[in-house]
Amino acid sequence: MINMRWWKQISIEALALALVVQTSRASTVALRDLRTTTDKDIAYELGHISYLANAKYPRHTLKITGLGDKDPSPGVTFKPFTVIVTNESVVTADSLNATISSYLTEDDVFAKAFLNSVYLTSSVTNASLDANAFTYLESAGVETTYLDSNRFKSHGGGSRSAQHDSGTTLAPGPYTATISRDTVSLLDTYRLYPDKYRDFITGIYPSNDGTDSFTALESMSSRLWSPMIPVPSRIHSWGDPRPLAGQRVAVKDLFDIKGLQTSAGSQAWIEITPVANKTALAIQRLVDLGAVLVGKQKLAQFASGANPWDWTDNQAPFNPRGDGYLTCAASSSGGGCSIAAYDWLDMAIGSDTGVSLRRPAAVSGTFANRPSQGMISLEGMLAQNWAQDTAGILARDPVKWAKFAKAWYTPELHQSESITGLSPLSVPDTMAFPSQILYPDEQFPLANPAAQQILENVITNMAKVLNMTVKHTNLSATLIDAPILSDQKDSLDRLLIGSSTLTLWSSHIAVANPLLSTWATHHEGRFPPVDPQWRKEWSQFDSSTTNQTAYDQALRDKRKGVDWFEKNVLRETPQSCSESVLICDIGTGGLPSFREKALNEGPNATFLGMMPDGAAIPCSLICPIFGCADFTIPVGQVPYQSPVSKVTEQYPVTMNLIVRRGCDFVLFNMVEQLAKAGVIRAVKTGKAAF
Ligand SMILES: *[C@@H]1O[C@H](CO)[C@@H](O)[C@H](O)[C@H]1NC(C)=O
Ligand SMILES: *[C@@H]1O[C@H](CO)[C@@H](O)[C@H](O)[C@H]1NC(C)=O
Ligand SMILES: *[C@@H]1O[C@H](CO)[C@@H](O)[C@H](O)[C@H]1NC(C)=O
Ligand SMILES: *[C@@H]1O[C@H](CO)[C@@H](O)[C@H](O)[C@H]1NC(C)=O
Ligand SMILES: *[C@@H]1O[C@H](CO)[C@@H](O)[C@H](O)[C@H]1NC(C)=O
Ligand SMILES: *[C@@H]1O[C@H](CO)[C@@H](O)[C@H](O)[C@H]1NC(C)=O
Ligand SMILES: *[C@@H]1O[C@H](CO)[C@@H](O)[C@H](O)[C@H]1NC(C)=O
Ligand SMILES: *[C@@H]1O[C@H](CO)[C@@H](O)[C@H](O)[C@H]1NC(C)=O
Repeated sequence: MINMRWWKQISIEALALALVVQTSRASTVALRDLRTTTDKDIAYELGHISYLANAKYPRHTLKITGLGDKDPSPGVTFKPFTVIVTNESVVTADSLNATISSYLTEDDVFAKAFLNSVYLTSSVTNASLDANAFTYLESAGVETTYLDSNRFKSHGGGSRSAQHDSGTTLAPGPYTATISRDTVSLLDTYRLYPDKYRDFITGIYPSNDGTDSFTALESMSSRLWSPMIPVPSRIHSWGDPRPLAGQRVAVKDLFDIKGLQTSAGSQAWIEITPVANKTALAIQRLVDLGAVLVGKQKLAQFASGANPWDWTDNQAPFNPRGDGYLTCAASSSGGGCSIAAYDWLDMAIGSDTGVSLRRPAAVSGTFANRPSQGMISLEGMLAQNWAQDTAGILARDPVKWAKFAKAWYTPELHQSESITGLSPLSVPDTMAFPSQILYPDEQFPLANPAAQQILENVITNMAKVLNMTVKHTNLSATLIDAPILSDQKDSLDRLLIGSSTLTLWSSHIAVANPLLSTWATHHEGRFPPVDPQWRKEWSQFDSSTTNQTAYDQALRDKRKGVDWFEKNVLRETPQSCSESVLICDIGTGGLPSFREKALNEGPNATFLGMMPDGAAIPCSLICPIFGCADFTIPVGQVPYQSPVSKVTEQYPVTMNLIVRRGCDFVLFNMVEQLAKAGVIRAVKTGKAAF
């Protein structure tokens, strides 16, 4: 299946190109960089870049209607191929030059070698090609030009004519083509990036078989121990009006995606569960809005809060910040660290039950939101706590993050009251910003004075830009004294215990029960191999305290707690969706925290989740208990002397902004305002966020 003539031509252009189809004949051809992938897909290299083409299910077929004056190649050949959609009635050398230049500068997948063959189509009928256009195409390395015979009235210059099904929209950009005498099949083509921080479980791409399912890319960089992640060209989405068109998104491996195994971070779970036959509703919505799913990401097992050294089944992902041995926290650890690592990835989707999006964002210096309770359906996501699970977005750019979130969250996917136990969610999209910043004194100052200084500057600027006042409070004192559930003063404790009851019962029903019983059946009564936290928790499970009755009671208490909070702490006023924005720190107070346990001891580093003396509730639990929205926002970085690299490195500093349940869009609008005013800004990938 390898066309040697083409191979030689490409070689002349000094391109190290190797192409292989997984057939027996391929092995008879000596090729460098030979790779095989899944059934019938092909992998090849142009220059030093690896590509994958979905040869099993072509995206489009062009019918060749005229051969021009060049010899048609015999048999079937594979070629790098580019579709150009013009909009001028006369296409000139200059307009082609401008288009191709933009392809080269604005996309990381397209490369000059894709200009081997070109299909020119147009958004106008009766288009024509200026004579100098052919000269230009030749000089740009185009060997064969196919002109859309439905659009171009004149041909010439040795071009061939072809046409695509007029009912389909042909996306511009790079493809791999299989060319026969009568047809050109255009294959979805992906650039393969190695996940060198090992944040992913697998790369994925749409099967394109008409069933909306996905295929896992069974390919890795052996040298880097890294899965390869297939990324489509950004050019394909130019002109696609859908709000998330072309956004490259990775998904925590807790959500089902049709055609793929959901692992939840557990080998035992893989063994007892089938490949997903439906994509989780929230993830399907991303696809419907134009996002492209590129991979499934590592998580702490069953979305636990496990520290890196307690990951037994899998290896905890790596953090690109600082010395490279910082923790990624949990549980959406792959998500946070990958967003901090890779420019080729736009967003990551994770879940947050207790802290699982917000803290991974804090330790990787990225943005993440825990949305209001009930914001988006979690059908098709393995539960940890039905009444406390949420799904949110990790991002680098605050403005893109806000836009993405406001497109993704929709009232149609709000969860029902029967799941949340709370009142129906109402999410206004207004500029009714909080008028005050609520500063809980007992949570501050941060452990690192340099981080505290950064935070105070941001608060001052925020107050100035948005005309807010700063109000000091002792939230813990308020909560301890409040008769939330009754006149007794143990309401907060009961809410915290209730939260753990909700988790224990949900995960017992959703995870432990099916896993333990199925495993025992298949393995002569054995207990499954799981990370230490789960072995302990499931061994100690006690149905005389944790049961449906206790769950229902905890859910009723939770509702009382949320109602009380919205009357007494984060209120709605005629001017503001949430009278206050509560500031907190879900991170480490500016001290580094490492993936290696012993490095966290001593005064210059910290374990995660340390609660200041005098605080009665950790920042992380405010919104899981009270249903509110909590965003992690990177605000700066502080130097630390690394015990790993033995030089000074930078550690990210973040803050958390908390508003009343339902005020997510108002807070996203506020984030945009703060970004416009320069109070907050996008973070970079790599060792340092800023
Ligand atoms: C033609 O395409 C160019 C580049 O995409 C764009 O800037 C221009 O506005 C388009 N013109 C028309 C008439 O659509
Ligand atoms: C476009 O034209 C400029 C000026 O002639 C040239 O330097 C450049 O290489 C051309 N770009 C492409 C993509 O052909
Ligand atoms: C295209 O050109 C042909 C012949 O010149 C003419 O008959 C036809 O009306 C034109 N169509 C459009 C849409 O301009
Ligand atoms: C999908 O799988 C579930 C069980 O995993 C099964 O109950 C359901 O019938 C399947 N649906 C389809 C459409 O195959
Ligand atoms: C700022 O807020 C105060 C109330 O907190 C209000 O009186 C004042 O008019 C506001 N100023 C501006 C410029 O909006
Ligand atoms: C369920 O748990 C509650 C305490 O949380 C306990 O009082 C009750 O007896 C338990 N029910 C059963 C059937 O074990
Ligand atoms: C902590 O950092 C300070 C300042 O860099 C340094 O003087 C001190 O020796 C460090 N302590 C430990 C235990 O590493
Ligand atoms: C806040 O209140 C708690 C509980 O009453 C108390 O222990 C703590 O010292 C107070 N903190 C501050 C900063 O006032």
